[in-house]
Amino acid sequence: MNNLDTQILNKSDFTNELTGSICTRWAGQPVCVYESIDSTNAECTRLKQAGAKHGTVAMAMTQTAGRGRRGRSWDSPAGENLYFSLLLTPDIALDKAPMLTLIMAVATARGIGALTGHGAEIKWPNDLVLDGKKVCGILTEMRMEQNRIDYVVIGVGVNVKDRGFSEELKDKATALETVCGPDVSIRPTRLLETILKAFEDLYEAFVTEGDLGFLLEEYNSLLINRDREVMVLDPQGNYNGIARGITDTGELIVELADGERREVFAGEVSVRGIYGYV
Ligand code: BTN
Repeated sequence: MNNLDTQILNKSDFTNELTGSICTRWAGQPVCVYESIDSTNAECTRLKQAGAKHGTVAMAMTQTAGRGRRGRSWDSPAGENLYFSLLLTPDIALDKAPMLTLIMAVATARGIGALTGHGAEIKWPNDLVLDGKKVCGILTEMRMEQNRIDYVVIGVGVNVKDRGFSEELKDKATALETVCGPDVSIRPTRLLETILKAFEDLYEAFVTEGDLGFLLEEYNSLLINRDREVMVLDPQGNYNGIARGITDTGELIVELADGERREVFAGEVSVRGIYGYV
């Protein structure tokens, strides 16, 4: 029996559950917990401006102005969903920053798998999908200064409970509990810890290696688009092709009908399945 059904967590439950239980070296040291905030990404930026260090996390029960990719909003009802942002001050070249999003996608997939036993897949570059529907979105924002990275904020929203998606979302969004059933108890705090631990390990390997070569096999094995036909929405003109996996630097390899292989950079285009979301 999942006792979360009868209990809505509040800020002190989250804080108590987290205290002393995060066994990371720096990711989530500290976690700042908020009952309600505009956006954890915005809060992380404010924390940085107030002197917060690499690894600081802002987590909220609900967001009043949750931000999604491409200027969209992220619906953030109170309950047991997970909304958090991680502040990084990486000493890496500017053009490597987008790879951090892909790393967070793998870390989150690992976290979901470890806690639920269900394998989430990745819709390139960084949506997580369960049963063909989106269960998690990731938004990376960055500030640069004189051609170098000042800081990066990676925001993650995981739908844990289905509290009723809007008409627009209900065919393409799902929640962990919907897929896993009510008997699987998913504590957002446990999910956060597991994701942060996975991210920390992957981040350190990435900084040592300098690219995603070490993660290629795992990322490609999670890639729901792999060997499927996709439509690349390119400002220079849309085209279709078969997705073949990612490169060492995170571009999606798309094979056209004539055999030409294009490397698609996430910043410029979006990709969708030709029959719908994936
Ligand atoms: C997407 O459009 O798929 C990305 C959604 C990212 C949502 C998360 S929720 C926590 C963090 N704070 C925000 O305002 N957005 C991200």
